Amino acid sequence: MALRLIDYGSPEYEQMVRLRYEMLRKPLGLSFSPEELEKEKDDVLMGAFEDDRILGCCLLTPLDPQTLRLRQMAVPNNLQGKGIGRALMIFAENIARDMGYNSLMMHARITATGFYEKLGYVKIDGEFTEVTIKHVIMEKKL
Ligand SMILES: CC(C)(COP(=O)(O)OP(=O)(O)OC[C@H]1O[C@@H](n2cnc3c(N)ncnc32)[C@H](O)[C@@H]1OP(=O)(O)O)[C@@H](O)C(=O)NCCC(=O)NCCS
Repeated sequence: MALRLIDYGSPEYEQMVRLRYEMLRKPLGLSFSPEELEKEKDDVLMGAFEDDRILGCCLLTPLDPQTLRLRQMAVPNNLQGKGIGRALMIFAENIARDMGYNSLMMHARITATGFYEKLGYVKIDGEFTEVTIKHVIMEKKL
């Protein structure tokens, strides 16, 4: 498995958007608007790959000079529980540190809080509804 940055608009980005749609939006009856995807040209996009096949992804959006927001973390159903999500989180944290940020936060789906807790994230606020489901805010100082 290789972890690498994804260029906005590249074939890898198209794979990433498909994975995110399948895992994060389609089950909720939602999709991505062109405006929403357009904003991602300013984000740090990353994925886990086996050859050219995407195994997982996430992205980082700057919030303020200290803090990045992790978004769109997804691993396909049939590949979950193999450490791909953890590897992506560690990769994202290292990139965030290298960029000079000292805090990572996310709007975590309630169903995923256990995953983030295992990686050292703590709930700092919640609960609220986003994309029709309950979330909490979690954070870790890097
Ligand atoms: C959440 C998600 C990204 C985790 O990815 P993954 O590759 O399955 O996670 P890993 O295999 O790296 O798991 C790392 C650890 O977290 C645990 N874990 C994984 N998902 C968990 C969950 N939903 N709740 C509690 N613990 C979880 C694993 O058991 C593992 O624990 P261990 O170190 O004791 O073995 C993946 O399940 C997913 O894509 N879910 C659907 C989309 C989603 O909810 N994304 C997050 C939106 S906020």
